Amino acid sequence: MKVEITDKDEKGVSCDALILPVFDDEREPYREIDKELGRSIRGVVSSGEFKAKHLDTCIIHTMGRIRPERLLLMGLGGRRDCTDHRIRECGGKAASVSMEHGLKVLALSTGTLRRHGLSPVPFAEGVGLGGYRFTKYKEAGGGTEIEMLSILSAEERGLSESIEFVRRSTETVGLVRDLVNTPSNDLTPSGLAGFAEGLGSRRLKVKTLDSRDAAREGMGGFLSVSKGSKEEPRFVLLEYRGGRRGPVVLIGKSVTFDSGGISLKPSEGMEKMKYDMAGGAAVLGVMKFVSEMRLPLHLYGILPATENLPGGSAAKPGDVVRTVSGKTVEIISTDAEGRLTLADAIGYSRRFNPEAIIDIATLTGACSVALGNEAIAMMGNDKELMAMMQKASELSGERVWQMPLYDEYREYLKSDIADLKNSAGRTGSLVTAGYFLKEFAAGTPWVHLDIASTAWSDKDRPCVPKGASGAGVRLLINFLKEYIK
Ligand code: BES
Ligand code: MN
Ligand code: ZN
Repeated sequence: MKVEITDKDEKGVSCDALILPVFDDEREPYREIDKELGRSIRGVVSSGEFKAKHLDTCIIHTMGRIRPERLLLMGLGGRRDCTDHRIRECGGKAASVSMEHGLKVLALSTGTLRRHGLSPVPFAEGVGLGGYRFTKYKEAGGGTEIEMLSILSAEERGLSESIEFVRRSTETVGLVRDLVNTPSNDLTPSGLAGFAEGLGSRRLKVKTLDSRDAAREGMGGFLSVSKGSKEEPRFVLLEYRGGRRGPVVLIGKSVTFDSGGISLKPSEGMEKMKYDMAGGAAVLGVMKFVSEMRLPLHLYGILPATENLPGGSAAKPGDVVRTVSGKTVEIISTDAEGRLTLADAIGYSRRFNPEAIIDIATLTGACSVALGNEAIAMMGNDKELMAMMQKASELSGERVWQMPLYDEYREYLKSDIADLKNSAGRTGSLVTAGYFLKEFAAGTPWVHLDIASTAWSDKDRPCVPKGASGAGVRLLINFLKEYIK
């Protein structure tokens, strides 16, 4: 999708639809335009057909009386409730309604927003997010992509930069959604590594370790997960050196399919476990974005990519493995595989002397038991980093909720024969997963984001069509922006 800022006026802009945001208490919105249209807007408002509640829409044909072919009235709801978050959702809704009707060229009127001190930027962001469709496996011709969004506004300080920022970040979200929606037969660990290598450039270095390299590094946790699969694991390392700040390490869980292994998952819903690499995909997206936008910091990305399958050579409950850090882990459940891969990634990353480690992972089913699908669970060992993440959460609208890592949880993970066990069972399993990782971060400032709750949506939402959401991408981008301030 192209986005332009233009000082053309509403009546004179050629487009399939002119989007007109309306508050719910306006009785004669857009009077100037409405005069040309024989009072059609007032008609749908006074008849109650269009109430301008948040996310209400109404399409009116202009019959050639002005340049836009249609008006898309977009309900903002109440003036007092109107936040950037709600405006973003309006953008998302406007995108899906437009796509349903095959409208590809859009223009956005910004006067109403402006008069309330509101920015059109989140609206444009919403259009970018809500306009996504996954069409790779559908016969061609099914989808109508939005080609253009013209923002009707005078150029003002910072506007085009902000628009370019959200255009690129939403594009990145689309790329990440594509990766996560892709089934595991088409996105194997080596496929994911290949994709990462394709992102490599002079500024973004990419290096991949295979299973022999990983064995040499002592990654017994990571390798134990991969043993049941014929697909070779790949430990992908990305490095972007854009400045002296940092280094910051981003680690993304990259289990391209999680069957549970010998601790096999129930078959119902197992098809969704292709999304167990959503953390890794988010990290790839963020690395690409950061290197293209040349943010001034030193950043590493790590994707320990593997499948988790049962088989004659798979790891078994009761097995003990040795991780990079030297700590041994007793495998209670082969389905608690993510933390084994992350333990080695965290352990490995400490050689970079990171200022901060952020991991992002679809780590526990308990995450959605606790939060539904409305927030990312955050844990960590550093207040300042978590405060920055909260700030990024507000900026991005990606909700984050902090969970505790009390010392008492250490008990839960005690093994009779090894340093730790990988599962403490159901009790507190969201936080014991976090606590397990904390043991490997040791003294390094670290934040854990469990996106099992938000990385997949079972229903259409204004800014997230059903399927992979791209969770964490905009959160992490905003986090890094905060970090370098
Ligand atoms: N990938 C799953 C977590 C998950 C479940 C993500 C559902 C998204 C939706 C993870 O590897 C897992 O299986 N976790 C187990 C841990 C348990 C065995 C301690 C879980 O949450 O059930
Ligand atoms: Mn699992
Ligand atoms: Zn998993």
